Amino acid sequence: MRQVIATVVGNERVAAGTHVLRLREPHISAHASPGQFVHIRCVPISPSGSTPSDPLLRRPLSILDLYPELGEFAVLLDVVGRGTDWLSRVAAGEKLDVLGPLGRPFGLRPTTRRALLIGGGIGIVPLVALARYAAARDVEVTLVAGFRDASKVIPASIVPAEAEYIVATDDGSVGRHGYAPAVAAEYLPWADQVFACGPLPMLRALARMERPRRLPVQVSMEEHMGCAMGVCLGCVIRTRKGYERVCRDGPVFDINHIDWQEGI
Ligand SMILES: Cc1cc2nc3c(=O)[nH]c(=O)nc-3n(C[C@H](O)[C@H](O)[C@H](O)COP(=O)(O)OP(=O)(O)OC[C@H]3O[C@@H](n4cnc5c(N)ncnc54)[C@H](O)[C@@H]3O)c2cc1C
Ligand code: FES
Repeated sequence: MRQVIATVVGNERVAAGTHVLRLREPHISAHASPGQFVHIRCVPISPSGSTPSDPLLRRPLSILDLYPELGEFAVLLDVVGRGTDWLSRVAAGEKLDVLGPLGRPFGLRPTTRRALLIGGGIGIVPLVALARYAAARDVEVTLVAGFRDASKVIPASIVPAEAEYIVATDDGSVGRHGYAPAVAAEYLPWADQVFACGPLPMLRALARMERPRRLPVQVSMEEHMGCAMGVCLGCVIRTRKGYERVCRDGPVFDINHIDWQEGI
């Protein structure tokens, strides 16, 4: 992990309140893996190098795509507040203060031939990076992604063409009608490894679903973060081995490692 200055190369609106930022920064593009994230300060950097102190906290965003040959990577952000709103308005040429890559990535088993990816809302982001990584290794990929309604659906152009992309919406306005884990359930017997990222209720539903006993499932957890370096303990969740830090011990965990019963 390093603190680096990334240059904005592009900023494209891809759905309502949803933007893809393409950033040039060779260290992160060369060293990040699917499932890892970056921590970005949401303030302008002046030519003198000084930055305003407010907002102080960085905002975590997952890696969407890596282009190591160009020294670039991409993130996708959903505008929910002050930080993401500021990021949605940055323009090509602007500089960002970025920490990364951070966290434990997904672990694709060498024996996996059919990967089922289950995303809820913005949780699709690290799964897109994983889909590209897996498809490049001749793994068949099915990505089931659930969204609130048609306006929030991430377009298929963001997802690697080799992956089967199945969209579900809560209101049935586009794609399958229903919750991503329920739609994904029919693919569980087909898969030999499962990866999921999304809101806690979605991951909890997946944890409680009946599934083949030996099927390995990894989940990427989301928590509010302070330092993202394992120091402040602001991001802990309950696991079978006590409290663990999402930023350092995760965000990717085995589904059986999380203590879903205790409330996290
Ligand atoms: C490991 C990790 C990866 C993430 N990846 C992405 C991503 O790829 N794309 C993306 O758009 N977002 C992602 N998020 C969530 C993103 O970090 C938050 O939405 C963002 O920090 C909100 O900042 P803000 O200043 O815009 O909103 P704030 O003004 O800080 O908050 C606005 C609202 O968002 C909620 N919120 C803030 N932070 C989080 C959080 N960490 N989790 C859930 N709700 C939150 C607040 O409770 C509040 O309701 C990720 C979070 C984590 C922990
Ligand atoms: S955010 Fe500080 S320990 Fe995880």
